[in-house]
Amino acid sequence: MSIKEAKNNLPEELIEILESIYTNGQLDKIYASYIRGRYINFRINTLKANINEVMKELNKNKIKAVNCSFVKNAFIAKGAKERTLRNLESYKEGNIYVQNISSMLPPLFLDLEENLTILDMCAAPGGKSLYVANLINNNATILANDMNEIRRKRLEYNIEKQGASSIIVLGSDGRTIGKRLKNYFDRILLDAPCSGEGIITLKKNKKLLSWNKKKILSHSKMQKKLFDSAYNALKPGGTIVYSTCTINPFENEEIIDYALNKYNDLRLEKIDLDIKNSIRGLTKYKDKNYNEELYKAIRIIPNEYMEGFFVAKLVKRNQ
Ligand SMILES: C[S@@+](CC[C@H](N)C(=O)[O-])C[C@H]1O[C@@H](n2cnc3c(N)ncnc32)[C@H](O)[C@@H]1O
Repeated sequence: MSIKEAKNNLPEELIEILESIYTNGQLDKIYASYIRGRYINFRINTLKANINEVMKELNKNKIKAVNCSFVKNAFIAKGAKERTLRNLESYKEGNIYVQNISSMLPPLFLDLEENLTILDMCAAPGGKSLYVANLINNNATILANDMNEIRRKRLEYNIEKQGASSIIVLGSDGRTIGKRLKNYFDRILLDAPCSGEGIITLKKNKKLLSWNKKKILSHSKMQKKLFDSAYNALKPGGTIVYSTCTINPFENEEIIDYALNKYNDLRLEKIDLDIKNSIRGLTKYKDKNYNEELYKAIRIIPNEYMEGFFVAKLVKRNQ
């Protein structure tokens, strides 16, 4: 599929958003990622795995895995099919977890330490909670919440399989947690439900029908409510990481701008990640101005390796 054909399959309003944000060179990469999809990425789960043993099995199955330089124990399996990975003993044993590298980024900015109480407000199927558990070696209490029962079953299965014994599963509406558990958590990850523009893969001659502007606006409303709840549930001095796998500003910068206007004890901290396929958070979109601090957030541009993501880190002032 050519870029021209890809654009024919995308809604005009989405193209308009993309073209208002990115340069021509960046747009080519985005469209190419929509056409070709992304290489399979995975993480070695060191809660269970011996890295050398996993590498031996990958070599035996002729799977070339390239180490990712900025995410510990993350690999890019160039040329391998997800099905091939799923057939490995390492996969069946929970020694590896298939997850895009972009999706491994938010936990890295949570300032993790041992013995914290951590909430993952929208957690299923668990990629980020599992990574948090791995990073702190199960030495914390992680509440992994998700409102969707079917996705929660997958979350429970993954926790068991990966040996992530520090994770407890909750099934609440995230919007209610702040009222019930006020000032309770040291760290909160809000990986919000979103329109997923960073993970689009187009099929030949098929229009992308799942996207429309109305959905974006309803996601944006939900995200603000989830953020309010996360703010209330966070202890003074605690950290919230907000992330989505979408590109439009209404689900990203607008949520953080809303939060900074509403809560004057919140401040943004800079996400330091030196990778080519990224730009800073937007401080302006068309005629809208967002809080000047928004450059501290990061936008990952989707390419052949990584999904498109937005990540912002906020700290609540100690009283
Ligand atoms: C982007 S996905 C989360 C992916 C997950 N963090 C991971 O890394 O595997 C968003 C999740 O939010 C959940 N969700 C949507 N609305 C919610 C709400 N009001 N409260 C709690 N969870 C919600 C969805 O069921 C979905 O699983």
